[in-house]
Amino acid sequence: QVKELEKRASGQAFELILSPRSKESVPDFPLSPPKKKDLSLEEIQKKLEAAEERRKSHEAEVLKQLAGKREHEKEVIQKAIEENNNFSKMAEEKLTHKMEANKENREAQMAAKLERLREKDKHVEEVRKNKESKDPADETEAD
Ligand SMILES: *[C@@H]1O[C@H](CO)[C@@H](O)[C@H](O)[C@H]1NC(C)=O
Repeated sequence: QVKELEKRASGQAFELILSPRSKESVPDFPLSPPKKKDLSLEEIQKKLEAAEERRKSHEAEVLKQLAGKREHEKEVIQKAIEENNNFSKMAEEKLTHKMEANKENREAQMAAKLERLREKDKHVEEVRKNKESKDPADETEAD
């Protein structure tokens, strides 16, 4: 009898159990050659080969799963990088926009200030002109 023991990540273990020949016989020492073969050497060989096949296919399955997992991780990382790039781009655009808005605001304030100064100048000029165009006699009292 070939009994499969617990499966491990590293492979599989088997226990070869040789049935006692008869009731009265004491159980054979594991290493003593059986007097009567319950399993032929060929059968044992076949079972071992089948086990090896199973081990290999299990290993292939595990490798496939690992590859899939790695692929998924790659996609997750790729997406995180893309999101980060998008975020940076958006932050940069926001900042640029804000700076442009600030610049326009400052320019508008500057233009308004200039306009007020011009109005003031105009007013001063008008007052001066009005004074000049008044009757000169008003200003020559002392004559
Ligand atoms: C990043 O931005 C692009 C274009 O704006 C968009 O198509 C894509 O879905 C965004 N990606 C993520 C992960 O947000």
